[in-house]
Amino acid sequence: MTSVFYEARIPDDDRRRRLYAGDLFVYSPTPASQQLVELARSMLDEAFAPLDPQYAQFDLSVERYAQILAALKPAFIHHPRCKELIPALLAELGCDPQRTYFDVPRMRSATSGDYLTTGIAYAFHPHRDTWYSAPFCQLNWWIPIYPITAENCMAFHPSHWAQPLRNSSSEYNYQEWNRTSRFAAAQQIGVDTRKQPHATEAVQTDPQIRLLPPPGGIIVFSAAQLHSTVPNTSDRARFSIDFRTVQLDDVVAQRGAPNIDSYCTGTTMGDYLRCTDLAPLPQQATAAYEDGPPQAVVGAA
Ligand SMILES: [Fe+2]
Repeated sequence: MTSVFYEARIPDDDRRRRLYAGDLFVYSPTPASQQLVELARSMLDEAFAPLDPQYAQFDLSVERYAQILAALKPAFIHHPRCKELIPALLAELGCDPQRTYFDVPRMRSATSGDYLTTGIAYAFHPHRDTWYSAPFCQLNWWIPIYPITAENCMAFHPSHWAQPLRNSSSEYNYQEWNRTSRFAAAQQIGVDTRKQPHATEAVQTDPQIRLLPPPGGIIVFSAAQLHSTVPNTSDRARFSIDFRTVQLDDVVAQRGAPNIDSYCTGTTMGDYLRCTDLAPLPQQATAAYEDGPPQAVVGAA
């Protein structure tokens, strides 16, 4: 069973425990999340000027559109203001800044129809982030930049929380991906040749949950939650921000969601920065993760 908590101001320890058990949390916009959205919007406006970013695809060649995103997305990811606003947002929602670590935010786009669904605007098939070397204590934070609808949001597939899926995660190694494929995103127009983990059997996508917070609202979920990009059948592009966190005590104690079907190697543990001073996780805390997740145990959930 998956419960969706709205505006739940419970201690972070309790929230993480529930997220590791497959629950979802949704929050209204906070002052920092609104500033993050404003920053993203101003960068989008500038990048697509004089066009409205949500409708720009109808006036641009797909090559030009991909070129704009290829400059815009890294500029947002590495914007120094993001490293101030994300810790502020996490503090507003009750995370301990001394013990919470975050990675740089991504800006995602989902264009209307089949215009661009590869490379720099990759439309994610159902996946768990734990198939991509994320630790089982990782939490994902997802924020729409403009109003979203059921036709252009993201979806959760909770029947697979406890039900393993055959998948190709055993072929994925995060360190290897960084070396070979990450930087090729902008070139992947039409066909995406990069090897990414995916289900190798039919996914039971229904029932599915589509949460529709307002711009600046926040969805929080476990990295082990099966989720996907909804095919965008709306008339406009969807833009969103997401980032991930881990909490030091859980990293050390190797607490997190159960592993039922992730077989990847490598780890993203080197990516997270402490909220207070942007320090990485201590090496002795992450050493146990270097070879990949603990072995999947079928039926562990
Ligand atoms: Fe994901």
